[in-house]
Amino acid sequence: MGKTTTAKNLAAALALKGKRTLLIDLDEQANATKGSGINPLALDATLNDLFADPNRATLAVIFETGIDGLHIIPAHSDLAKTETGMALQRADPNNPDPIGMLKLLLEPLNDRYDFIIFDTPPSLNYMTINALAAADEVLIPAAASAYTEDGIGRTWEAYERAKKTYKQSLHRPRILVTRTKRTNASGVVLDGISQLYLDSVMPQLIVESTAVDEAEQLKQPVVTYDPDNPAAQGYIRVAEIFINEQ
Ligand SMILES: Nc1ncnc2c1ncn2[C@@H]1O[C@H](COP(=O)(O)OP(=O)(O)O)[C@@H](O)[C@H]1O
Ligand SMILES: [Mg+2]
Repeated sequence: MGKTTTAKNLAAALALKGKRTLLIDLDEQANATKGSGINPLALDATLNDLFADPNRATLAVIFETGIDGLHIIPAHSDLAKTETGMALQRADPNNPDPIGMLKLLLEPLNDRYDFIIFDTPPSLNYMTINALAAADEVLIPAAASAYTEDGIGRTWEAYERAKKTYKQSLHRPRILVTRTKRTNASGVVLDGISQLYLDSVMPQLIVESTAVDEAEQLKQPVVTYDPDNPAAQGYIRVAEIFINEQ
């Protein structure tokens, strides 16, 4: 759907504009981590250690990236085990509720960063729930292709559930349409999304570009690999929208 591409490019674009930015990789596949040039297997600490031992200093799992001002909390494949552990914990009423764990762990960092960006896994699991509980806003990237509306619908339901049950202050999500092409099919999907979600669709689109894949191969965001590329420019404008709202 473009989640990881959006998370790492938006985070990088914010950092390039001088904002202190932290990217948090909540996906056990660790694509945002690898895509930022970091090998999660070579690290002595990842997000997983933080969840496993909440007394561990959050700062110990923050790493610098190749981009000035962009830091990352990397993911690890063991996050899947942590996720299962949270589900079990939730099932036992004697245990503390795992929903607010990430929010609690990040509290000491609030003054250190202008923006914290979460990259969430494909499924709506406990990592996603923790992200919703910790976030102020939700950005839903949606590729302009068939079945996209279903994906947006499921994420929107998760937002509504979060707002109703554990995160009343969460703002209405925004949708970023990505991978748009100059074809009729792409236009039809875009029209469909715009009709269903009216004012929630961001005015800036992200075009489909091979440079995005090339950058991924080189473990870089496209905004540093080829800043003049139209997809990179799109992400830079999205960053400007968020900065202007600060
Ligand atoms: N604007 C784009 N143009 C071309 N390829 C893209 C674009 N956005 C994403 N991709 C590619 O699509 C694939 C899936 O994107 P990704 O961001 O990893 O999705 P998700 O994290 O939601 O699974 C990646 O290989 C990525 O390089
Ligand atoms: Mg991803």
